[in-house]
Amino acid sequence: MKILMFDSGLGGLTVLAPVRGARPDADIIYLADDAVFPYGALGEAELVQRVLSVIEPVVARETPDIIINACNTASTLVLPHLRQRYSIPVVGTVPAIKPAAEQSKSRCFSVMATPGTVARDYTRELVEKFAAGCAVTLVPCANLARLAEQHLRGETVSDTALLAEMMPAFVEAGGQRTDTVVLACTHYPLLMDRMAALAPWPVTWIDPGPAIARRVVQLLGERQEGAAPAGPGVIHFTSGAAPGPALAATLAARGLIARSLP
Ligand code: DGL
Repeated sequence: MKILMFDSGLGGLTVLAPVRGARPDADIIYLADDAVFPYGALGEAELVQRVLSVIEPVVARETPDIIINACNTASTLVLPHLRQRYSIPVVGTVPAIKPAAEQSKSRCFSVMATPGTVARDYTRELVEKFAAGCAVTLVPCANLARLAEQHLRGETVSDTALLAEMMPAFVEAGGQRTDTVVLACTHYPLLMDRMAALAPWPVTWIDPGPAIARRVVQLLGERQEGAAPAGPGVIHFTSGAAPGPALAATLAARGLIARSLP
């Protein structure tokens, strides 16, 4: 069983962990398109082209059993294209607006996402379809994915920088306040503990990773009894840059070894 996991950078690691937990026997190929990171800043047509062109040679060479597009910014645009092109299952990550609407008690929730995801018709349609009657604040986070990458590389991320990204998600109006925050970019759960510690009041944070892992198990089935765990996965960076020592150690701790693309 082979899983191709894809993101603009390292955000997909927050999806990889629960997927690995559910299917430790699966071989992992992780493709990080860091050459053009961040996707949140790219135009829509450019992004569709880019994703299709970087995924194609990897799918042809690796023949995975499933593709996990662990990037909201790309999923909100390219899922139909990928599904049309490949006969294997393609699982995406899209903003968890439906679960947030179902669980918010104050009917006041926020969605933190890249500027690209916030601008998508797809996201606005999810709000119209599933969150009627809720006060939904869409928060474009211009720098948060980058800050999450810095954090993983062992660089310091200041409270000030985090607060500037997250505070617009905390809204008090008409006697109600935000009780739920959707992390609609796979990078953001990397900073969830930091953000929870800085939050002006406690909220429920929605990290989509576990739900994606459950979807993968629905499609691929449970791990077979007695199946041996797979060896370390492989991560390819499209920039060709080798990870520095801190990042290499972080990747190794998450069961990934960097290899250049052939
Ligand atoms: N991790 C990506 C997402 O889920 C986006 C980060 C970026 O490249 O802007 O949206």
